[in-house]
Amino acid sequence: MTDMMTRIANLTSETMAEIWPEAEGLPAAAELRGLLAVPPDPAMGDYAFPCFRLAKALRTAPPKIAEALCQGWKHTETASVQPVNGYMNFFLNRENFARETMEELTEKGGSFGASDLGAGKTVCLDYSSINIAKRFHIGHLSTTVLGNSLKRIYDFLGYRTVGINHLGDWGTQFGKMICAYKRWGDRETVEKGGVDEMTRLYVRFGVEAKKDPSLEDEGRAWFKRIEDGDPEAMEIFRWFKDVTLKDAMRVYDILDVHFDSYAGESFYNDKMGPVIEELREKKLLTQSEGAWVVDLSEDKMPPCLILKKDGATLYATRDLAAAKYRHDTYHFDKCLYVVAYQQDLHFRQIFRVLEKMDYPWAKDCVHVAFGMVSLGGESLSTRDGVIVYLDDLLNQAILKARTIIEEKSPGLENKDEIARQIGVGAVVYTTLSNNRIKDIDYPCTKTPYEDEDGTPRVRYEIDWEKALNFDGETGPYVQYTHARCCSVARKAEELSLPAPDWSALTDDEAQSLLRLMSRFPDVIRETAEKYEPSMITRAVTDIAQAFNKYYYEHRILDGDPAQAAARVALTKSTAAVIKTGLHLIGIEAPERM
Ligand code: ARG
Repeated sequence: MTDMMTRIANLTSETMAEIWPEAEGLPAAAELRGLLAVPPDPAMGDYAFPCFRLAKALRTAPPKIAEALCQGWKHTETASVQPVNGYMNFFLNRENFARETMEELTEKGGSFGASDLGAGKTVCLDYSSINIAKRFHIGHLSTTVLGNSLKRIYDFLGYRTVGINHLGDWGTQFGKMICAYKRWGDRETVEKGGVDEMTRLYVRFGVEAKKDPSLEDEGRAWFKRIEDGDPEAMEIFRWFKDVTLKDAMRVYDILDVHFDSYAGESFYNDKMGPVIEELREKKLLTQSEGAWVVDLSEDKMPPCLILKKDGATLYATRDLAAAKYRHDTYHFDKCLYVVAYQQDLHFRQIFRVLEKMDYPWAKDCVHVAFGMVSLGGESLSTRDGVIVYLDDLLNQAILKARTIIEEKSPGLENKDEIARQIGVGAVVYTTLSNNRIKDIDYPCTKTPYEDEDGTPRVRYEIDWEKALNFDGETGPYVQYTHARCCSVARKAEELSLPAPDWSALTDDEAQSLLRLMSRFPDVIRETAEKYEPSMITRAVTDIAQAFNKYYYEHRILDGDPAQAAARVALTKSTAAVIKTGLHLIGIEAPERM
């Protein structure tokens, strides 16, 4: 079944061609589809088509066009029409619409909205991409959940996806960290303290290096040893990486986020040489103050730095090598970089350099940017304590869910697992509820205090009460609606119901629920086109609200059995669509809660 709006657009296009066979410049069906709107007042019809766009091609006033189209409309099994002020107002044949939509929903169940649109195509997604020796904090939450959601969406649309965690595992700081570890650290403390211990060592290095600047040379020497692949340096460096990843894995496990590759910056150490050579051959490298750069002044951008004066490579050099490697390895049709908008210039430069290198696939690289995360209006800063760690955020959310479960459903089985699902649901939903480019500010209490030296400072603490909202439009609300649908379905199992009578679903509430669900496959496709998972968040919320409205207005299991059967089928389909939608944004849908 093509969805109802597409059908109506196609039929309108046919009607147009019948009435005005000679006319030129009339919009095609696809454009008509885009012009079809849902009137705010259902009394105006289920859909409305504005005829203004046709006026020029037909040299006729819109109201006249609407009248002609309505007169020529023969498809009353789909909809009846009325001309009003230049609009064609469509009134669906509600029973047909209910039957067709329900038949498809019932048949497809959990795969409703899935497609083979992406068959044979590959999408690489670079997301989360955390930095080694740093604790996972809310600054990396958006990229993690956005990337995870996009990966699930592309999978659902039949693409092959490659999830890449482009680890930040390169830089002179790792030399300093090893130096600090050799001087003041020990294996056991780092094993136990994890990333926090590494941070402490790094901070100590900074303090000590102020007193004894020769430490800087020592740090540099250790970094050189990593670069040269010295066994001792490499062993410690790899171990630091393992410790960081072990910490991060705990968070990924809670979130149910996965990757196909952890090839990070250091992976490209031996892959930059050929790229630099190629840049030189293609005469793209110029020298500027001793450094080698690609000039981008024609594109009104600062030059892209490739090699520093001392021959060291940069973040950009690694990204050029990575893009080429990904293309050669995965033959991607699209490579998405889910990275904060602060790196906008970096990616514009990288993509432009790839273009200048004559790679036609440069146009398939996309920076999927998102807004800034702040705490009480302040930019995040580990040093100033303006920070919330992701495991704290998730654990608090899970704890809160657990308390609510204890209160409301003390008899529930599997409480810990359900609490995890709800807690994660709350956090992920909040992150994906607005357009990705919008900034996210976490509510925070600021308490002034004096540190040991008497310096006035401020303590920043996230306001859990406000940050973890479970009421109104939230993840738990949508999850709860799903559980409610499942509970109705369980009760229905005990009745033996006849075949459904779809004419029982012609009321306003059932129809708006059906309309929202019939549009869901379109929403998924559009979400993939715009890289905007919040559209799915919106859609599942609307469906949940429409179902709850239906639930309050109609008794599902009472009354005529054939009517009950139709209502139960509607309820089950709602559960299936909500479950799919939640899955696509990275949230689980418990059947009881
Ligand atoms: N590690 C970087 C950061 O935390 C993000 C890396 C994004 N991916 C890339 N290919 N540059 O800012």
